[in-house]
Amino acid sequence: MNILVTGGAGYIGSHTCVELLNSNHSVVIVDNLINSKVESIEKIERITGKKIIFYEKDVTNEEAVDKIFNNHKFDGVIHFAGLKAVGESVSKPLDYYYNNLVSTMILSKACIKYNVNKFVFSSSATVYGENKVPFVETMKLLKTTNPYGETKAMSERILTDTSLANVDFSVALLRYFNPVGAHESGLIGEAPNGIPNNLMPYITKVAKGELKKLSIFGDDYDTVDGTGVRDYIHVVDLAIGHVKAIEKLDNGVNIYNLGTGKGVSVLEIVNAFKEENDIDIPYEIVERRPGDIASSYADVEKAKKELNWEAKKGIKEMVKDSWRFEKNYSI
Ligand code: NAD
Ligand code: UFG
Repeated sequence: MNILVTGGAGYIGSHTCVELLNSNHSVVIVDNLINSKVESIEKIERITGKKIIFYEKDVTNEEAVDKIFNNHKFDGVIHFAGLKAVGESVSKPLDYYYNNLVSTMILSKACIKYNVNKFVFSSSATVYGENKVPFVETMKLLKTTNPYGETKAMSERILTDTSLANVDFSVALLRYFNPVGAHESGLIGEAPNGIPNNLMPYITKVAKGELKKLSIFGDDYDTVDGTGVRDYIHVVDLAIGHVKAIEKLDNGVNIYNLGTGKGVSVLEIVNAFKEENDIDIPYEIVERRPGDIASSYADVEKAKKELNWEAKKGIKEMVKDSWRFEKNYSI
């Protein structure tokens, strides 16, 4: 297949491009580089030994998107492009609603116009809100706690309605749990700008000595050791899930959790990182972070059964690969 990957220079997009190319699909990337660097395109090419067509464009620009669709014949779109910082979405809600919703609408419109019938969307476990774990795809979605989460719930709705109205337009809504880790080459990984919001990139910055210590947000949750529990998934497993999803996609709206099905606490991650990499991670326990839930992990049966996919890499590989990338990363 020839696949348009929006946000393909970013963290999950770049790993997915590697897996698509390794599975003999071809990719065209569009990214405005608002949260990534052009170097990641060359790195994907280096890892795979294959060439990529890259457009440095904004996918909220309808004219630019139309031109790209006009230049190529796509079999499908994987839409990663979006803003993703939860805290920033609270202070800049309009930026988030505009970027994340307008991009989804413009791309869907182009798909209908150019008869591109497979659309894979980056959704998030955040749409489950405070449902009971494990989260199952059939659950009624509860209100999310921030504008970012709402953009994911709304995009799911927009794509669902678009598919209902256009029978040939099939959609996969992939609800990611907590992606961590990096490609084993150490060439691509998560490189957020500024001080990281998420746990793993924060830990790797502490390991590198760029940040002094980790703040653990609360140790009084109803979990194994009181710290928050999440379903961490290796980004390469997540990337392979996209390949399986787009290869399988042929009708209607298909929702899949992409996680491991196992919950791991913050302290368990910190200890695994220390042990595997032989580096101390100083930390202190601080107040809970507003908006956090105690536990989030996936029911993974549907993806296993329908996509023949399951996450293979464990916590050890996640902490090792995250650290290998951070150590090497200098641009
Ligand atoms: P990322 O920021 O590394 O990648 C997103 C890419 O999209 C970046 O390269 C950015 O430059 C690009 N982009 C943003 N807006 C754009 C626009 N209007 N036009 C063109 N390019 C644009 O983030 P990521 O972690 O790789 O996340 C990819 C997707 O997965 C996002 O939609 C995110 O919301 C979703 N997601 C991420 C996580 C996570 O924890 N990383 C969890 C659930 C869902
Ligand atoms: N945590 C800390 N200290 C930190 C950062 C995080 O203790 O410095 C804790 C959090 O309290 C939480 C766990 O580590 O218990 C994971 O936090 P992250 O910020 O890494 O991830 P979240 O589960 O809060 O959210 C992430 C993404 C969301 C996405 C969600 C579900 O940031 O965009 O996973 O996929 F929606």
